[in-house]
Formats: sequence, structure tokens, C-alpha cells
Amino acid sequence: MPATRSVYVCQQCGSTSPKWAGQCPSCEAWNTLVETVMPSGPSRRRERPAPGPGAAAVEPIGAVSSAEAERLASGIGEVDRVLGGGLVPGSIVLFGGDPGIGKSTLLLQLAARLAAAGSSALYVTGEESSRQVRGRAERVGAVVEGISLLATTELETAVEAITGTSPAFAVVDSVQTLASSELGGPAGSVGQVREVAMRLAEVAKRSATCVALVGHVTKEGTVAGPRTLEHLVDAVVYLEGERLGTTRLIRAAKNRFGSTDEVGVLEMRGDGLVEVPDASRFFLESEQPPVAGSAVTIALEGTRPLAVEIQALVAPAGYGSPRRATTGIDTNRVLMLIAVLARHAGLNLTGHDVYVNVAGGLRIEEPAADLAVAAALASSLRERAVRSGTVLAGELALSGRLRPVSRPERRLTEARRLGFDRLITGPARGDLPTAGPAADGIEQATDLRDALRRALEA
Ligand code: TYD
Ligand code: MG
Repeated sequence: MPATRSVYVCQQCGSTSPKWAGQCPSCEAWNTLVETVMPSGPSRRRERPAPGPGAAAVEPIGAVSSAEAERLASGIGEVDRVLGGGLVPGSIVLFGGDPGIGKSTLLLQLAARLAAAGSSALYVTGEESSRQVRGRAERVGAVVEGISLLATTELETAVEAITGTSPAFAVVDSVQTLASSELGGPAGSVGQVREVAMRLAEVAKRSATCVALVGHVTKEGTVAGPRTLEHLVDAVVYLEGERLGTTRLIRAAKNRFGSTDEVGVLEMRGDGLVEVPDASRFFLESEQPPVAGSAVTIALEGTRPLAVEIQALVAPAGYGSPRRATTGIDTNRVLMLIAVLARHAGLNLTGHDVYVNVAGGLRIEEPAADLAVAAALASSLRERAVRSGTVLAGELALSGRLRPVSRPERRLTEARRLGFDRLITGPARGDLPTAGPAADGIEQATDLRDALRRALEA
């Protein structure tokens, strides 16, 4: 038994102290220090690749090859798009998301696609038994040659299996259920979670394996509590969606090998996650002819334009303060828009309950959706549908003025593809063509009142 010592690791920020205290000296959170036993002495051995010839070679920057490592296309286009073109051998990617959202399903499907294409895959399960994983594999068609299973909660066993078999793709499900026997502290504590990620990152490099690490998101919204994990991995991908809905979005929160603003759209079916072929149409529930309380915007998520329907319901409030409830959009943003509508467009919603819903389970962050939200609210209040063929994109300032949006012509092109013919937006920025076919159909409103008139009045 090697000599050990105890340190106290803050479960919030990951800093360590030699003594226990009620408050973390670093981030000042209360009751977050947890005793963690470490092997003592400075000579804590870490496995490193044997220094082969040239292992520490210093070379001129010009002599370094910039050729990108060949990527493994996962076969699920929406996932590859978010990763920037596929999985990178020797890298570690953290897949985060709420419990039950479909992380295990997605990774098992990725393993199956890769195995079917001739790459070997290893699925390490610490969370479920091999039998349970096999059951899921039957549902999603992942009982294929080339996938191996290992049920363990011991980090060392998992590392050994990856080193021993050098699979092209290894799933470790999940970071919270594995623990190193060299370290004190329960599985899921900061010390353990960090150790798991660090050791797997090493192994990934050494075996040229792409390791996919599953992490449950805690209530606080961060993977495994602390942010510390994000530094240790090459990419962080989140799987999101409403639990009861079937739409799932994948987004990269960090990506060493690509951009972070692409979004992938998948749908959860009885036989696993499937790609949504025409994602833009997917978020469009609009009925024809248009009904009151609905407006369509074209959101730009990364380089991909998505047509999204905003639905609003405005109804006279009963007793007490009126209700304001939203799904898929920040409630504070809607409260602000309600105030701007009252002040600058003469639409008073003080005595009304207000409900705003983004169709299809999408969550919109882009302020360019403001104008469509305002139009949906105005449309519901006035019981008058937005003119057919109209989409809106514009950010509203508190003054009621409209700010320019990025790439209006890109948005209009997408709108046209879906059968719309006019885009109501704010004033031009430098990149907006003022003449020519791209500008044809773009209407620049001066302020909120003007935009609503164009949207609602025939
Ligand atoms: P799972 O992948 O276990 O989620 P996570 O690993 O993120 O916790 O998925 C769990 C949910 O997905 C479960 O409620 C059942 C549903 N599901 C389907 O709808 N279809 C399927 O083919 C599978 C495998 C799961
Ligand atoms: Mg799971």
C-alpha cells in the first residue's frame, strides 16, 4: 500500500487545500471541500509514452506538417457537421447533456456506424450492465461485428482495455461512474472526474483512439459540477432538447478542431436518433393560411439558416399578476419586448397573460428573433394574422429602433426556398445589397411600429 496523504478538493472550482475549511479559499463557495486521498510524495508516477527517437525534438515551425489528421466520418452527418468534419483520432470529446436525453443512444449508434464502416469500437459502460447495453443495441441496430463491450467502474481497467485493443473509437459512459483506485474520493467527485478525463486523454493520444466521454450535466448546468473538465478535453458537445419532445440538438461548446457555432438536428425515434433531413422545414409548424399569434423568423445558427416559428398567445388575465411563460426563448427577453411594445408601438399587455413558444423544441438565443416575437405578440393581441409569405428578422433596441441583422440575404434565400417571399428586417448594414435580385424582397423597416404595420397590414 503506497503512502497516501489527504487533500481537500473544492467540488465547485476544483482548487485544492491542505486543510478542510467551511468555505473554499479560492472561489468562496460554502461546504464544497471534500477530502480526497492522493498517493503521497512528489514522485506520483504518470504513464507517459516512452520517449522514442525525436520525442522531444524541437523543430522550426516551417518544418512542422500542417496536414490535418485524417478524420473518421461518423456516418451521422449532423454529428460530423458539429465536430467540424468528423472525429479526430487521438482526441477526447466530452458529450454532455441531461440524464435521459439520449447520450448513450447516440454514442452507441456512432460506434455502430464506425464499426460497420470497418473501424473497431469499444464501449465501456460504468452506468449500465452489458446486458442493458446489448438490449439498447438491439433497438438501434448496433449489434454489429467490430463493437466490443466492457462493463467496469474502474478507470484502470478501462485504460487497460483501450491500450490493449487500440480501437479507433472508444466510448466511456460515463465520467461520473468511473473512479481510479489510486485516488480516494467517490466516483463523480471533482478529483475523480478530473483524473478520469486526464488519464483518458493520455490514452487517446497514445493509442490514436478517439475517446468519447459521456458526462451528465448537473442542475447547475455544468458538466460534472466544475468547469475544470472542459480544459482537459479537446471538444465539448452538448446534446439538448425537451425531455418529452423528440427533437435533439447537438452543439459544440468548445472545439479544438472546428468552429463552435454549428448545430446539428436529430430526432429521437423508437429505433434511436435519426437525422432530420430538412432541418429548416422541421421547425416550421405554420398552418396555411397563417393564423393569428404566429410569426416566422430565419435564425442563423452557425452557418446554417433555420426557419423557426414563434407562437404567442395573449389572453385577458384573471386575478393577480398576469402570467408570462415561455418555452425555447429567454423569459427576460420576452418581458423586455412586452415593455418595448407598450412604450413604442402602443400595444399594452399589462392586463394580459402572455405565452410564447418556439415551435419544434428549438431554443433561440439570437436577438434577431426579437422582431418575430414582437410580431407574434401583436398578431395575437389584434387577432390578425401576419401577412402570408412574410418572415421577420431584427433585433429590437429599448428605444423601439431596429438594429441590423447579420446576413439578411442569406436569410431571405432560405425563406424563399421554403415558399416565403419577403423578409422584414431592420436598417441595412454594409453587407446588405440595396439593389439586385438579393435585395428584392428585403424590406427595411425604420422602427418597430413600421415593421409591425408591414407585417400585419395588408
Ligand atoms: P439514453 O441514451 O439512455 O439517455 P442518456 O444516456 O443521455 O441518459 O436515452 C434514454 C431515453 O431515450 C429513454 O427515455 C428512452 C429513449 N429512447 C428512445 O426513444 N428510442 C430509442 O431507440 C432508445 C434507445 C431510447
Ligand atoms: Mg446513458
